Amino acid sequence: MRLDKLLTVTATATRSEAARAVRARRVLVNGVPATNAAMQIDPQVDAVVYCGTPVSYRAHHYIMLNKPQGYVSATEDGKDPTVLELLPQKYTALGLFPCGRLDKNTLGLMLLTDDGELAHRLLSPRRHVAKRYYFRVKFPLTAAECERFRAGLVLEDGYETKPADIALHEDMHSGVITLIEGKYHQIKRMMQALHNQITHLERISFGPLSLPADLARGEWRELTAAEEAALQAAAE
Ligand code: URA
Repeated sequence: MRLDKLLTVTATATRSEAARAVRARRVLVNGVPATNAAMQIDPQVDAVVYCGTPVSYRAHHYIMLNKPQGYVSATEDGKDPTVLELLPQKYTALGLFPCGRLDKNTLGLMLLTDDGELAHRLLSPRRHVAKRYYFRVKFPLTAAECERFRAGLVLEDGYETKPADIALHEDMHSGVITLIEGKYHQIKRMMQALHNQITHLERISFGPLSLPADLARGEWRELTAAEEAALQAAAE
């Protein structure tokens, strides 16, 4: 593999940043400054250090993002900004995509990856990977409505939802919903079926991943090795 290719596929640098760093003798291959960004290296064998940071080869990228309002869960959109626009330029060439969708005005935890196989397994209805959402509604919810929600509701198009958990807070206007499926506008439509209306929706977990308290709105980070392993296990 070319040295500059390793630096771009690991999202270490863009191609032009890689070329600049090589010219500045800031990319070491086995301890020796590289003189040519196109030199061939073996990522399994050669030790590459970019501007003081060791580069480890990874076949795929897994990023968690705290989605703000106003961004769409797509790779391209003619009208609105996409969640991918929140990432730095070095990630743009990797072919990342959102694993599942959040509505434009829904906030919170999104997973972005270039691992189509894992995304497919995580989103498969057969695997029942749970997603938890903090919500607020316009009108107070009753215990009987929560029971209907838990049993599964018939939506306006006739679709019968799978049972979905709801834990209501004392104010009766907010709580946490757990879904094991992901139909279009599912929570909003389930609340409509109860003649109510979502006023705030935020995903707080996706399978084993929880939205970290220190990840501010609009911020992102790569998953840790432990988080990545937990995600792989959830998709087994
Ligand atoms: N349910 C919705 O209605 N919207 C979302 O973004 C996610 C779940």
